[in-house]
Amino acid sequence: MKKLVLFASGSGSNVEKIIRYFLENTVAEVVAVFSNKADAGVVQKAHDYQVPVVVVSKSELDNGGVLSKVNEFSPDLIVLAGFLLKFPSDIIAAYPDKVINIHPALLPKYGGKGMYGMNVHRAILDNKESETGISIHYVNEHYDEGAIIFQERVNVSDCISPEEIAAKVQQLEHEHFPKVIEKLLQS
Ligand code: GRF
Repeated sequence: MKKLVLFASGSGSNVEKIIRYFLENTVAEVVAVFSNKADAGVVQKAHDYQVPVVVVSKSELDNGGVLSKVNEFSPDLIVLAGFLLKFPSDIIAAYPDKVINIHPALLPKYGGKGMYGMNVHRAILDNKESETGISIHYVNEHYDEGAIIFQERVNVSDCISPEEIAAKVQQLEHEHFPKVIEKLLQS
């Protein structure tokens, strides 16, 4: 059984989908959820499934204090699912090609600094894009620039609010993210 460590800062809807998917599956299990926010929704969700939670501070992340905590779980893959702080470069170096992220747009468009959450969907709407989607990619030292593993598109030409776009994108995330993780672990 492969081991997954997840990092998240937000509500954790993707984390919940991933935990549930691998509860019914012998390929992998979620062994820990790391969060920089003790009161984030994701922390409660992890508790609901009895998945160990590790809360880490921004200074620990910036000063190399998190690698040893990750190592304790011996992960086969580290998954960022809505993790909003800069991911430590020493962890990227220690786990080459084993850190992945999901981004709610079709990279390289709508990536980079400031492009997270509703900012992305608002920009899609403002620019009258007819489609958007999701990108699952390796994490390197630069935001949203690692090699792309998987993308899926969705038509949003009928959407009149960023929330509507967000809902369509979230549906794609929930459908594909666990399966892409499973495939990566099997390859
Ligand atoms: C997702 O849209 C993901 O693409 C982005 O952060 C969001 C996390 O949402 N990186 P949730 O906390 O899983 O609901």
